[in-house]
Amino acid sequence: MGKGLKIMISGAPASGKGTQCELITTKYDLVHVAAGDLLRAEVAAGSENGRLAKEYMEKGQLVPDEIVVMVWFHYLLNNFWICNFLPNLYTSCEQVPQEILVDRVVGRRLDPVTGKIYHLTYSPPETEEIAARLTQRFDDTEEKVKLRLQTHNKNVESVLAMFEDITVKVDGTLLKEEVFARIDSALSNLIEQKDATIGIA
Ligand code: AP5
Repeated sequence: MGKGLKIMISGAPASGKGTQCELITTKYDLVHVAAGDLLRAEVAAGSENGRLAKEYMEKGQLVPDEIVVMVWFHYLLNNFWICNFLPNLYTSCEQVPQEILVDRVVGRRLDPVTGKIYHLTYSPPETEEIAARLTQRFDDTEEKVKLRLQTHNKNVESVLAMFEDITVKVDGTLLKEEVFARIDSALSNLIEQKDATIGIA
């Protein structure tokens, strides 16, 4: 359904990017790759890149480009891919106040078996079995999310400026289903426009 779609999603730490990517990939049959996930996998594997990356992630700072590029390079080497870098939609999850971001980070849990993201209050696990195996990210503390937020605020404008023409801003404080409904509507419009351009009735 989402053939040819290239979407980038941005937003403050814990604004809901991963949650929305899960919903988008399910509906549009896309593959989701996130630099943060690739870096955490390196940390978990105990590789040299993971060891170096962890020092920056612990401080809420951006990991230097040379490490991020190497991690992406390894991912691309080990997976089949076609990449035309420029996205055709850039979604930005906005307006989430700091106290909500902290609340989302502190309550976030991950299912190591399915990779699904949960929240103890807003998106609790479906069964006791899942609840028993949930894990927490090493950078999911109030102190660390505040540092990540400072880094985000310093860099966000320069990134947004690059994609201004194709950006759809979404209020990230809404319920996750409502956030998704807005992204879904933007994607449906985009697909309609693409189909009209190539003459599909
Ligand atoms: P990264 O992994 O990218 O983390 P982040 O940007 O801090 O974002 P998160 O993954 O924490 O949050 P999210 O927006 O995906 O929220 P989620 O959907 O889980 O980066 C981590 C670190 O890696 C960085 O600090 C940096 O050091 C490094 N790094 C990463 N990329 C890099 C790069 N390119 N270059 C250099 N360094 C890089 O939701 C959060 C919680 O809220 C969940 O529990 C969820 O269930 C809940 N929730 C979601 N939506 C809602 C909603 N609408 N209502 C209520 N609850 C909700």
